[in-house]
Amino acid sequence: MIPQIDLKRQHDALRAELMDAATRVLDSCRFILGPEGQALERELADLCGARHGVGTGSGTDALLLALKAVGVRPGDEVITSAFSFVASATTIVMAGATPVFVDVEPGTFNLDPARVERAITPRTRAIVPVHLYGQVAAMDALGDLARARGLAIVADAAQAVGASYADRPVAAWADATTLSFYPTKNLGACGDGGMVLTTRDDVAERIRLLRDHGSSRKYTHVELGGCSRLDELQAALLRVKLKRLPDWNERRRAIARHYAAALAGLPLVLPVERPPARQRCGRPSGRRSRRPWPGWASAPPSTTRARSPRSRSSRSRTRTATSRWPPRSPPRCCACRASPSSWIRRWTRWWTRSSGRSPR
Ligand SMILES: Cc1ncc(COP(=O)(O)O)c(C=O)c1O
Repeated sequence: MIPQIDLKRQHDALRAELMDAATRVLDSCRFILGPEGQALERELADLCGARHGVGTGSGTDALLLALKAVGVRPGDEVITSAFSFVASATTIVMAGATPVFVDVEPGTFNLDPARVERAITPRTRAIVPVHLYGQVAAMDALGDLARARGLAIVADAAQAVGASYADRPVAAWADATTLSFYPTKNLGACGDGGMVLTTRDDVAERIRLLRDHGSSRKYTHVELGGCSRLDELQAALLRVKLKRLPDWNERRRAIARHYAAALAGLPLVLPVERPPARQRCGRPSGRRSRRPWPGWASAPPSTTRARSPRSRSSRSRTRTATSRWPPRSPPRCCACRASPSSWIRRWTRWWTRSSGRSPR
């Protein structure tokens, strides 16, 4: 059995830096809402195209607080993906609203904007797209829809730290974008953690209150809040890992291409990378989208604007783009130099014979 993720190997490679970071925090005796957390909030906001980052205790809390901050109330409906980790939907229930499940697009496994449009009712208050497996959902179409109908977008980017769509970083596309630092995520802590990224000052301010007992300053509690803060130790460790994230994301993409080439032709449904979504770290260096970011969300979501012809054409680009997989020359298996597709074919033949079943 090949382990899906080997954190020990990751940590061994970073041991000295991680220990330095942990020692720095222990020596400072600042454990909650200190300089490490603030630095991480700035660094991630910068990387992901947001104006603010607000650390939380987990990705689940980030979703719940973001929903509340954009104004989701009991009785509202919130549209989300039928295919995600359970927290994308349970947090909607925790906010007192009703999740309305919409199916995903084949291939990307992300929310289908055409189906979202059909699911909107007068009670719909927000949309929660999930950027599954590192791929950003069709945010141009979803953003146009949300603007036209006065809906908020809270995007679940738990699996997509550092991704971009149409050359705009992931958090530039929504009112609020949530991250999870669960240890197996592409940016994983050594414990729990999460963050809300937003381009809206009001949303950031509200989440800062809600995560810390509704407190605007020490012992002044202006509203009912919980306790969900990213601690300094996790923030310091995450900052060490964040420096490697661009390389790690590239490596993941290379490995994904390797698997896609090796598994091509088998009766499996594999996720495809569909431009203009891209799991790439950092601000885009080349052509910029004509729409400026920090994103569309800087206009209040209640601003009703008709869908522009430009956005329709960019949507059709998304739909007609072809998969980049498999690459023309499939990589070789590093151990035995056989082509991966040949050893998978051999394995499939063996499995079919020994189990008496057909994989087709
Ligand atoms: C898509 C998605 N949303 C939300 C979460 C919840 O994050 P956390 O476990 O940090 O609460 C996860 C992962 O755990 C996830 O994969």
